[in-house]
Amino acid sequence: MNLRSGRLNQEMSSEAADYTSSLTSDKVIFYADIKCNFAHVLMLKHEKIIDADIADKILEALDKLKEEGYEALTFDNSVEDVHMAIENYVTNIVGPDGGFMHTAKSRNDQVATDIRLVLRDKITEIQIAILDFIEGLTLLASEHLETVMVGYTHLQHAQPITIAHHLMAYAQSLKRDYERLDDTYKRVNLNPLGSAAMTTTSFPINRELTTKLLGFSKFLENSMDGVSSRDFISETVFDLSSLMTTLSKICEELILWSSYEFGVVKIADEYSSTSSIMPQKKNPDVAELARSKATIVNGELITILTILKAIPYTYNRDLQEITPHLWNAVTVSEDTLNIVTKMLLSAEFNKKRCLELAGSNFATVTDLADLMVRERKIPFRTAHKIVGRVVNEAIDQNKSTNDIDSEFIDNIAIELDFKPLNLGDELVQKVLDPLENVKIRSVPGGPSPEMVNLAISNLTEFLNEEFEKKGI
Ligand code: ARG
Repeated sequence: MNLRSGRLNQEMSSEAADYTSSLTSDKVIFYADIKCNFAHVLMLKHEKIIDADIADKILEALDKLKEEGYEALTFDNSVEDVHMAIENYVTNIVGPDGGFMHTAKSRNDQVATDIRLVLRDKITEIQIAILDFIEGLTLLASEHLETVMVGYTHLQHAQPITIAHHLMAYAQSLKRDYERLDDTYKRVNLNPLGSAAMTTTSFPINRELTTKLLGFSKFLENSMDGVSSRDFISETVFDLSSLMTTLSKICEELILWSSYEFGVVKIADEYSSTSSIMPQKKNPDVAELARSKATIVNGELITILTILKAIPYTYNRDLQEITPHLWNAVTVSEDTLNIVTKMLLSAEFNKKRCLELAGSNFATVTDLADLMVRERKIPFRTAHKIVGRVVNEAIDQNKSTNDIDSEFIDNIAIELDFKPLNLGDELVQKVLDPLENVKIRSVPGGPSPEMVNLAISNLTEFLNEEFEKKGI
């Protein structure tokens, strides 16, 4: 049945039909649309709104279409979208009675329902992939509890850390990305079906029943909101943007750390490229592309928000333009998550280089100042000044961290009009040792192997609970 044959006398021009068609991205909601129709028709039957035998025929046709798949649909210029194509398919099998399927339903509530059905599965899929990544990070971290490395602020050597502590920082960020999606899921998993075009319907539909059949937690309580709200989409895409930001930052570090200058990490060949002219090159192309794909998802978020911001209530066709951007954000994020997981978990850390960086550029001297406070009860500010001058002198005299001894410190203290501290070489050497430096930071949240181990076991507990919730 041609939808246009009533009100309109002319077919749409093929140019306009192409321009307005949503078919490319409708493929994504094909099975959800069958499911939505199925639940709706079951409800119409249950409430005796349509005859049971007609309902059964429609349900049978929908089942057949589910078996045959998207390819079984036929399209011409009169078919605007997948909803029409499915209705046509059903009507071809059932005859004109197939048209009862659309009783008390509009494409407006239908498309909103379909998107929510697909999106909640996608969210779960991405969440499981995040859990997998976190799990891999905790395992890798437990191999590197004592792999000392330098930590940065302002991209300048700051204080020693361990690779484990750093990997666990990634894990915590991913945990929040996961939790954000969990929260958003609650707002995605709501049923707009029954809102019809915008004001529900005069038929006595049963919205509790379709809500139950489709596995939604509740139905949306305002039909105008039901057909026109898409903030569940912008919210999801924000969550994805945030996830992509985490991934992009990880990639940025892999790129830096795999450079000759850092030499901290080796990315596996499987995730590297070479140059067509420079035979020596090993390039981190996957990480670079992942970094830029975060930009694509950010762009999708802005596109979606900007389409939404000036739409008068209720349904406007502009809303159709949002959906492909949602699916693109989902695909790009999922692909990036999967590949970054594999790339990072297969990367090799150069322990020797990590230790060298941690010990070579005065990254341990905060502890020298702490030692002065602890042992000689001088104010931290005074200690900070003495140690700052110690480092300055050491650099001037071309000395390294290891060359700093008790006498060197005292000479400077005296120069600055302080009393000699007499710390002793043994204590000084100990606090300047990067591993000791890390071990002594054993307060909660710190990089000591003991604390990172605790963080790993806390996160493992979280993972077990969440995997179980997801039925894994
Ligand atoms: N393809 C449309 C969309 O994605 C389906 C809803 C069409 N509704 C309408 N009134 N033309 O939004």
